[in-house]
Amino acid sequence: MKRLIIATLVLFGLSYGTIQAGSVYLEIPMATGEPHPEGNVFWRTNHMDLLRHDRDLTMRQGERDIDASLASCVTCHAVNGPDAKPVTVKSEDHFCRVCHDYTAIKIDCFQCHNSVPADFGETSLMFNRPDNTLDILLAYLEELSL
Ligand code: HEC
Ligand code: HEC
Ligand code: HEC
Repeated sequence: MKRLIIATLVLFGLSYGTIQAGSVYLEIPMATGEPHPEGNVFWRTNHMDLLRHDRDLTMRQGERDIDASLASCVTCHAVNGPDAKPVTVKSEDHFCRVCHDYTAIKIDCFQCHNSVPADFGETSLMFNRPDNTLDILLAYLEELSL
């Protein structure tokens, strides 16, 4: 229920912002590439479900029933910083933080996933696997299924 209220507040805030030209609540950074065929409202409302990990180790099973890749999100939705390079999720300007900061949502996805396009060489667990990677993954997935 709380989630629904938050989502509604954000959606309302956004549409209100666009109606009231000049008093936009949140400035969502522009993306590059083709827009989503399902539309922005659909994506605002449903991205969290589309991105959800399978509760089984996706990696092992090699099968997913979702079609959303986090690596692709941070590519089209990259936001450049003052040095003309995409900012990481440490920056409050990062696409994924704009709304989340506003609604006080914290996501832990970028502990493992890159928050910038692949060519920008951010080192994450994905590319720098310590010996205990599998333990970390299993602990993470276990937490998800609680
Ligand atoms: C503990 C490490 C870890 C965390 C934290 C984590 N993931 Fe993953 N994720 C993985 C691994 C490993 C894979 C499988 C490797 C791959 O497909 O690249 C994966 C695959 C995925 C995929 C499919 C492949 C892709 O490129 O997107 C999605 C979508 C995804 N994760 C979303 C998320 C989201 C959303 C969160 C935060 C809620 C999250 N992950 C948090 C480790 C993690
Ligand atoms: C091929 C490029 C591309 C990819 C990949 C992509 N997006 Fe988008 N996305 C866009 C465009 C273009 C828009 C339209 C709004 C804009 O221009 O910023 C958009 C809009 C959105 C919106 C609505 C923003 C608003 O202003 O209301 C959300 C939320 C979103 N995307 C999330 C995601 C997530 C999460 C992923 C990864 C699963 C993703 N996108 C992958 C290009 C992309
Ligand atoms: C247009 C605003 C907006 C943008 C941009 C956005 N999100 Fe979200 N996100 C939300 C809202 C609102 C919620 C909380 C909804 C709820 O509580 O169910 C949320 C929730 C989530 C959740 C679930 C968190 C949880 O604890 O259940 C994940 C995962 C997530 N977003 C991933 C992303 C990623 C990854 C990006 C960047 C690629 C992104 N979001 C960009 C608005 C946004």
